[in-house]
Amino acid sequence: MGMPAIGMSDEDANAVAAYVRSVIETIQGQGAPPSAGREVPSILVGNASEGKAYFATKCSGCHSATDDLNKIATRIPDQKRLQDAWLAGGTREEEMRPNAPAARTVRATISLPSGETVEGKLVRIDEFLITVSLPDGSQRTFQRSGDTPNVTIHDPLKAHRDLLSEYSDRNIHDVTAYLVTLK
Ligand code: HEC
Repeated sequence: MGMPAIGMSDEDANAVAAYVRSVIETIQGQGAPPSAGREVPSILVGNASEGKAYFATKCSGCHSATDDLNKIATRIPDQKRLQDAWLAGGTREEEMRPNAPAARTVRATISLPSGETVEGKLVRIDEFLITVSLPDGSQRTFQRSGDTPNVTIHDPLKAHRDLLSEYSDRNIHDVTAYLVTLK
């Protein structure tokens, strides 16, 4: 049963063990390619005061360092995860927060030719159909043809997605350096 013994000198066994250990040290997360060295580069390479200024112009319309993002670096102590979180507009775990869904839920308002208006959580939309879920848990699907019915999408995180194409690497580093100070 199992792996047969391999006749090997102590010296060879040590060499193989050292090799296996060196490979294990390069393993990152599941699915990530092995890194060349074992140093994890610090992502704190930005300038916090530049980040603060950038935050004041681009983020403070929706966020405040003393209100909703107060102690964000304590809540998300891992710097890489903090960076991922502000870029995406939240973390997976945060999405599980009871009060988070409303703040992040994409909603749709559908104005039917009959004059009826239906509003709900967007489940799916493509060129031909739109499905929303209603407060009672039921779903309604409508056919779309051009602008009929009229559909308005309210996506709280649209700004985050739009900003993604605006940031320079430097902006990203600076904002992260600033957010890390919010402990
Ligand atoms: C137009 C509004 C808007 C702008 C501008 C905006 N955000 Fe957000 N952001 C949101 C919304 C909405 C959420 C989701 C709210 C929630 O989950 O509480 C969010 C979530 C976040 C979160 C996660 C908050 C948490 O509590 O987990 C961070 C961090 C964040 N934004 C940082 C930024 C930074 C930094 C900028 C500027 C570069 C920015 N945002 C610009 C609307 C905005």
